[in-house]
This record gives sequence, structure tokens and C-alpha cells, in this order.
Amino acid sequence: MDAIDRTAAVGGSRVDAVRGRILSFTRRPEGPGDHAGLLHIQDGAVRIVDGRIAAVGEASTILPTLPPGAVIDHHPDAIVTAGFIDTHIHFPQTQVIASYGTQLLDWLERYTFVEEQRFADAGHAARTARFFLDELLRNGTTTAVVYGSVHPGSADALFAEAERRGAGMIAGKVMMDRHAPDALRDRADTAYADSKALIERWHGRGRQRYAVTPRFAITSTEAQLEAAGALLREHPGVHMQTHLSENPDEIATVRRLFPDDASYTAVYDRFGLLGPRSLFGHCIHLDEAEMRLLSESGSVASLCPTSNLFMGSGLFDLERLEDPARPVRTALATDVGGGTSYSMLRTAAEAYKVIQLRGRNLPALRALHWLTLGNAEALGLADEIGSLAPGRYADLVVLDARATPAMAHRMETIGDRLEDELFVLLTLGDDRAVAATYLQGTRAHSRGG
Ligand code: GUN
Ligand code: ZN
Repeated sequence: MDAIDRTAAVGGSRVDAVRGRILSFTRRPEGPGDHAGLLHIQDGAVRIVDGRIAAVGEASTILPTLPPGAVIDHHPDAIVTAGFIDTHIHFPQTQVIASYGTQLLDWLERYTFVEEQRFADAGHAARTARFFLDELLRNGTTTAVVYGSVHPGSADALFAEAERRGAGMIAGKVMMDRHAPDALRDRADTAYADSKALIERWHGRGRQRYAVTPRFAITSTEAQLEAAGALLREHPGVHMQTHLSENPDEIATVRRLFPDDASYTAVYDRFGLLGPRSLFGHCIHLDEAEMRLLSESGSVASLCPTSNLFMGSGLFDLERLEDPARPVRTALATDVGGGTSYSMLRTAAEAYKVIQLRGRNLPALRALHWLTLGNAEALGLADEIGSLAPGRYADLVVLDARATPAMAHRMETIGDRLEDELFVLLTLGDDRAVAATYLQGTRAHSRGG
């Protein structure tokens, strides 16, 4: 990977340091009160050189090291942390979000497969890519793992816009060669060739990375799943993303289409699609053997709570997935447009409720870790993003726990209790709580303009 994407400064203004309350993780908190893996500096600063974090520490130590005329953004009452990471989102569904009245298979047919056809038009894809990146940045998300439409041009549009802004995206064109409208079907051979060309064009160019993207087992023939496996074998650094075990009708359909496989997960396993760079959205209704397959292969299960509640899909079982006897790696994601918010804060709030309905809690520290370092680890990118440490990209988000009257009112009772403040942010926060977002040390969003 290149050190810095030279286009990072386009549009924004570059800063030499960001000052505020520094918050970052070095490891996952085991529960409430576990601060051993937490860096928290009340008046701290992040020094930025060439788009990367050069130093993090007390403002009184960092600021004197800056050159004369250095640009410092000071956010006195706000938390400065690593930019959020969304591990599963659909860029062609920005105008599918909030579609009424259906569950997964009907929703795909009635809304999603109609909308995704518009991405044959390069102009529509480019316009949507601009909106999509604006919206991610307004919500403090600096890296996302993104599904395109079946059209290779959709992935080109997204990568080009991300590159222009200096953001690092992991994305791929959807592969789907059956059970979809004619206009949205590729073939095993064209999906292979188009994906390969996109990998050659984009994977490792600046910050961009490719994800081989078979939509799910229902919309790919065996030949196409085989082609997806071949792409992964031939390009070892790329990711893989797909959907798994989201909805009972979906699971029954997979059983019918693949009667000789032991399970939905076993289908993907047969084609070599499991592994440490493989991301499976939803993973709600898995049996024990499927969880073992995911665990042994190092695959990642992404919880998409706003989507799972909105579509009535079911409740992710975090405790069971993380059973120490065969732990499955987990991540958190919006799944827009099945999901109902671009905000990872809102997503964490809904994750808390899903986990409550399973009889457990999601501590605030664990949730904030998940949005940052936890998701970076799930992507194998913790040495680049997800924390405030020297050498990482200076992708930052600035959070304001008093962003709305209701938040400010609640905060009156909290004083300096950090975990309670974070819980307010995570439960009541959304784009209004994002005071600023930086990509490679360039201001990419600033609340109020
Ligand atoms: N399964 C297959 N395609 C999709 C999709 O676009 N969204 C969701 N939530 N599930 C899917
Ligand atoms: Zn999805």
C-alpha cells in the first residue's frame, strides 16, 4: 500500500494537529470498568504528518513540537477518536432505505432489484457515490466495506470517489447469475473476468481494496461460487463478502437449491469462501456446526442490528457466537439500505437492544471499541486504522456528547463519568453528535459547514 493518497487534500483543509479529549483502544475491554486497554487523555493532541498519525499525547507535550504556523483544530469539550468503520453496507441502496412492509426475499424483489438496475448508468453511479461518501463522513465513518451493484462501473464509481477524498474503502461488484431480473444477472465467466479486472485496477491502489462479492447463495450458481473461490485463491490479499443465514425463507431456499450440503455455511465452505478475510453479514440462525466452521476458518460474522430489526430477520446471538469453546470473530455494520441508519452510533444503540433481547448487555466501552479497533481487527487492518497510534492513518472523528438538547440535559447528571458519557453518546447519538471527521488529517466534514 502507498504511504499517502496524494489526493487526500481535495476539498478539505489539512491540519497539523487535532486537540481535544483523546480516546483510543489498544485492546478489547472485557467489561465495564476495564480501562487497561484504553488511552484517555483529558487535554490531548494528535500530531499529523503526511496524512498519518505521528504522535499522540498530552497537548502540553505535542503542541510545542509543531512547526511555526501549524494548523491546529481545537475541540475543547469533545472526544477525539479513530474514525468509525462500517463492515457491511450497500452503496446502490441509498434510495432503497426506508422501504415499507416486506421481509428479505420480497424486499429484494420489490425494491432492491428495481433500484439496483439504475446503476447501469455511470452518471447515476457517480452521483450516488458522491452522496454516499458525504453521508458516511457526516456520520463519522471513514472506512466501509461496500457492496456495489452487479455493474462493474458501480465499483469504479465508488473507488474513484473514495480515492478523490483520501478514504480507504473495501468494495466489490456483486456477482449474481440467477434468481434476479435479466438486467441484473451476470454469468460465472463474466463475473470472474469483471471482478478480476476490478482487482487489477483497484486492489492496493492507494488505500483501496477489493472484496470478491457473491451476493448470496441464492443468486449464484455453483459455477459462479466456484469462480468466486478461484478469485480468492488467485488473489490472496483480497477480502470476500456475502450474506449468510439472515431470514428463515432465505435459509429454506438455500436448502432447496443445495440439497446435498449440510448447511448454508457448508455451501460457502465447499467453494473455498471461508477464511480470515471473509465477512458474512447477519449470521442470525446458525447451528452449532456452522458456528464451528466459521470459528475454525477465522471468518467474521457481522451484526447488522438496524437491518435485522427493520426486516424482522431475527436476533444475532453474540454470546453464543463468541462461545470461548469455538469463538467466531464478530463485527458491527449498518447494512444500509436494509439497515435504517448510516450512523454507527445509532447502529451501536440498536446492537445494545438486540443483545438485551438475548438477555445480555453491551458495555459502552465494548461498543466504542467495536466501532473502531474491533472492526479494524475484523478486517485485518488494525495496523492502519481503528486507533490513535503513530503510523496509523489520521482518520479521526470528533464526538460531542451534548449535541442535542436531550443529550445535554442528560449529561447534566453525568459529570466526568466517562463510561456513562459514552453510553449517552452511543444511545442518543447520531450524525448530530459528529462535530468533525478527518481523512488522512484533512477535514472532510465539519458540523454546521
Ligand atoms: N441478502 C442478499 N442480498 C441482500 C441485500 O441486499 N441486503 C440484505 N440485508 N440481505 C441480502
Ligand atoms: Zn447486506
